[in-house]
Amino acid sequence: MNNDIIFKLKEHLPISDEELQFILTTGDKAIIESLRTAAQDVAVHQHGKIIKARGLIEISNRCKNNCLYCGIRASNSELHRYSLSDKEILECCEMGDNLGFKTFVLQGGEDVEHTTERITNLISQIRARYPHTAITLSLGERDKSDYQAWYNAGANRYLLRHETANPEHYKRLHPSTMSFENRIQCLKNLKEIGFETGTGMMVGSPYQTIDDLVSDLRFMEQLQPHMIGIGPFVPHHSTPFAKFPAGSVDITLRLISILRLMHPKANIPATTSLGTLAKNGREMGIFHGANVVMPNLSPTTHRKEYALYDNKICTDLEAAESRKQIEIQIQNIGYTLE
Ligand code: 5AD
Repeated sequence: MNNDIIFKLKEHLPISDEELQFILTTGDKAIIESLRTAAQDVAVHQHGKIIKARGLIEISNRCKNNCLYCGIRASNSELHRYSLSDKEILECCEMGDNLGFKTFVLQGGEDVEHTTERITNLISQIRARYPHTAITLSLGERDKSDYQAWYNAGANRYLLRHETANPEHYKRLHPSTMSFENRIQCLKNLKEIGFETGTGMMVGSPYQTIDDLVSDLRFMEQLQPHMIGIGPFVPHHSTPFAKFPAGSVDITLRLISILRLMHPKANIPATTSLGTLAKNGREMGIFHGANVVMPNLSPTTHRKEYALYDNKICTDLEAAESRKQIEIQIQNIGYTLE
């Protein structure tokens, strides 16, 4: 074990569950550092010293679901709910385009007012205005026919984290109205339709074990997602998981490195939750193999209301400032924002 494991990861040689558990738990600083440098090298070799910017538009914090970890769950009655109008969303896109974003990410809770037709129409309008901009959706679980309609209207990518690849663990994180099987079916449908598909999990969510994380790695080996978003679990004060500890930044970073070695071409963001838990979390994500950041384009008036977890960063900065700030952070570490 040790450097041998990193060699196997780099060369895509078979690797055992025990080896993955070892690399996730070892306290050996030299091994952890060689994992990190191997992952950063692969990221730079594959993607250059370039970090891709995705303009995130949080279109609605209404949600019919009751995921136990999530601050915008339906039964959080403390939260002021909003849903951006098409006009507001198009304004965000315009600002994003002016700032040079080549991808818009429309993310939201499972808002029952997001009818198939409304979202189809919205995508058509964005596609017509910005023929060369990628449209990424992150709107949760839907029927395959909805995904197909949105793809046909011009959406290119879809983010749907699997959250955990252990069905028993999935049950402990979600209400009984949701199922692991449906989640996985949605991911398969998205891939079949032709979406560039993203998935991922929270790290350190309540009841998660190291074995669960190994299952997550195996699941993604099978799925071969185009994008992999992982971030530490961060408690939200008005959820049933309020009293659980936050996930580990160290294990999140190790996982980013392992995933980079296993999926050299995947787009892996340095996520907001990582930036929330660790000072310079985004930069650390990049040093561990991430190649994407997602600055916020949502109107600042609603930023705080898209509260998936407590103390989420960048809630005050206007889109332009937030992009500028991230651009400087990235330049300071010798990379370029694209
Ligand atoms: N901590 C960290 N991540 C969270 N998400 C939702 N709630 C939390 C939380 N409390 C993540 C989920 C979801 C993504 C949009 O945000 O993984 O897929």
